[in-house]
Amino acid sequence: MEELVGLEQGFRERRTGAGHGTGEEGGRRARDDRRGLFNPEANLRAALKRQLQTWLHYKNLYWKKLYTVNRIRVAVVTGGNRGIGLEVCKQLASKGVTVVLTARDEKRGAEAVKNLASQGLSNVLFHQLEVGDLSSAVRLADFIREQYGKLDILVNNAGIVGTTTEISDPESFKQELADMDGMEKLEWIRKHTTEPYDKAKECLITNYHGTKIVTEALLPLLQFSSHGRVVNVSSHFGLLRFFSGEELKKELNNIDSLSVQRLDELSEFFLKDFKNGQLEPHGWPTEGGYPAYKVSKALANAYSRIIANKHPELCVNCVHPGYVSTDINFHTGDLMVEEGARGALILAFIPKGGMTGAYLNCTEVASFV
Ligand SMILES: NC(=O)c1ccc[n+]([C@@H]2O[C@H](COP(=O)([O-])OP(=O)(O)OC[C@H]3O[C@@H](n4cnc5c(N)ncnc54)[C@H](OP(=O)(O)O)[C@@H]3O)[C@@H](O)[C@H]2O)c1
Repeated sequence: MEELVGLEQGFRERRTGAGHGTGEEGGRRARDDRRGLFNPEANLRAALKRQLQTWLHYKNLYWKKLYTVNRIRVAVVTGGNRGIGLEVCKQLASKGVTVVLTARDEKRGAEAVKNLASQGLSNVLFHQLEVGDLSSAVRLADFIREQYGKLDILVNNAGIVGTTTEISDPESFKQELADMDGMEKLEWIRKHTTEPYDKAKECLITNYHGTKIVTEALLPLLQFSSHGRVVNVSSHFGLLRFFSGEELKKELNNIDSLSVQRLDELSEFFLKDFKNGQLEPHGWPTEGGYPAYKVSKALANAYSRIIANKHPELCVNCVHPGYVSTDINFHTGDLMVEEGARGALILAFIPKGGMTGAYLNCTEVASFV
């Protein structure tokens, strides 16, 4: 009972300011007390409690994000807006991988993502990437770092042939090629194709330098993955058998003594020889046409092998997709994109400690020569 009286009195005192002195001073002290000025210990306890709650909140968020990020597998595909690249995005996403579909053109890339979303693949998002542009690759790397903090799979797929082909009437073109086999179709296209210097240069920049630029920008993020994999979509045309000079062939196959700097030099020498009509005497590929495409893919292969040697913690491999019906060959290929993507998918899911520095001809291991 005494306690109750004491409480009631205390309550009255706090309301009137009595017990804190009299008049104006009492009222001010009561207000200060409510603000905790006269109870620093309680005040400190409350502040520590608030700080602890904030810290716990951020700690939980951090672990939640880390847990989520570690559980998801993240892939980047270059040139993902059409052809084989689009199919690779589709198949990776349907196997539960979060796919960053990249394309040089925002509109085409966003459209491809929208189409995949309409097929139920909501784990595909778009980021712009022009493979030959270092600043574009750095922006992509910044985005991946901020969003996921790591990258599990990189598919370097973007590529061009580096030629100009004249097809005046697509309908008669289709009819004319209808009964031909793959090689005959390729030969027909080659006869209607020119290879100007600016296209050859663009081909080297996209296929070789582009692969190198994107891989180098994303390499630190691949190393943050528990199992980073790089898949370079190459071509049968990148095999060393197409080089006429034995010395050049030997040099490009001797990976232990080859450097990326030397590959850059060779890319420059090739373009100089291309301009000066010196391809044949200097051992570059000439027979059967497409010299820039062949050299660009051979340099990209050699680059893959150097990176595979230098980074045994990663799996870095190349694949020839086969002769696949896409825009690159005016849909003359005899494989569908689903089949063309198979080798790339095998390499994208290769188990930890699996094959590295290798080349697949479609789905079979083959030689770089
Ligand atoms: N199809 C075959 O039979 C065949 C055979 C052997 C090797 N390959 C290789 O397979 C890969 C894919 O070819 P594909 O048949 O799917 O050809 P595709 O249908 O012509 O697709 C090529 C893709 O690369 C993109 N690209 C080109 N230059 C780029 C650049 N500078 N930056 C970013 N993206 C760029 C294109 O984007 P845009 O839409 O913006 O042009 C497009 O998305 C290529 O590396 C090719 O060499 C194909």
